[in-house]
Amino acid sequence: MTGIAAGPVNRLRPRRSCLAVPGSNPRFLEKAQGLPADQVFLDLEDACAPLAKEGARHTIVDALNNGDWTGKTRVVRVNDWTTHWTYRDVITVVEGAGPNLDCIMLPKVQDAQQIVSLDLLLTQIEKTMGFEVGRIGIEAQIENAKGLVNVDDIAAASPRLETIVFGPADFMASINMKSLVVGEQPPGYSADAYHYILMRILMAARANDLQAIDGPYLQIRNEDGYREVAGRAAALGFDGKWVLHPGQVELANEVFSPSQEDYDHAELILDAYDYCTSEAGGKKGSAMLGDEMIDEASRKMALVVAGKGRAAGMTRHSKFEIPEA
Ligand code: GLV
Ligand code: MG
Repeated sequence: MTGIAAGPVNRLRPRRSCLAVPGSNPRFLEKAQGLPADQVFLDLEDACAPLAKEGARHTIVDALNNGDWTGKTRVVRVNDWTTHWTYRDVITVVEGAGPNLDCIMLPKVQDAQQIVSLDLLLTQIEKTMGFEVGRIGIEAQIENAKGLVNVDDIAAASPRLETIVFGPADFMASINMKSLVVGEQPPGYSADAYHYILMRILMAARANDLQAIDGPYLQIRNEDGYREVAGRAAALGFDGKWVLHPGQVELANEVFSPSQEDYDHAELILDAYDYCTSEAGGKKGSAMLGDEMIDEASRKMALVVAGKGRAAGMTRHSKFEIPEA
């Protein structure tokens, strides 16, 4: 199933830290601009009280048009399709600030049709307003059992999709998980209660060339806890995690960037592979880098790490030396 949006857009933006900012709070909107988060999302959903939503749409338009968001991916989270707010959220924000907005985040996605509906609405607004059709991306939050069961279809529903995002708070409530501490393991279960969910989301994302993002960790003063939960998602292959507090931004950037050593090594593997497959290197399919054999599969793994390091603005400390014949 696909919507009608089209157009080549670079969908793989850095998203190590995705900062949540309540759309109704101009002070927070101002402060967010100075933080080193890769992404900000201005929230019209759960961080915005029902009576504040209408005003927040306009506050967000103003912040997007007049703020300085240089270097950040700019996202607005609208309300989900089971509410009556969604269409006005999208129309007000995209008509008002479309060129200054990168993605719409849709929460509590339950099936592919909900993504297609958003895609169609975005296309109509873009055409009406004369904006580039298909430029605005979609981030889909998986926050309940139905969404997870349908995540493969959801991830393939539109070329606008950029990320699949896990929403642990709503998800834990939706499956009756016996814990009130979002992101922490429920007491009484010795294994990782999130493993299946995270892997399911990661597979759907990767099968469709999308990013996978982990959701919030609500104990905002517990840095060790954040590091541990974020580290688990990063180890599996997730690209980033939400941050709810300035103190979590640097932690996320660190956890989701490769170490300097891994980054340098990845760049060396790419150089060694390029050299050995070239004319000068003898057009070989594999080579040695020190004691390590490098082939096409190693190149692919190195590309992932190097790609994350480059996106994080890392500079290499290693130099490739042409091996002696
Ligand atoms: C985020 O939206 C969550 O529900 O965890
Ligand atoms: Mg939620």
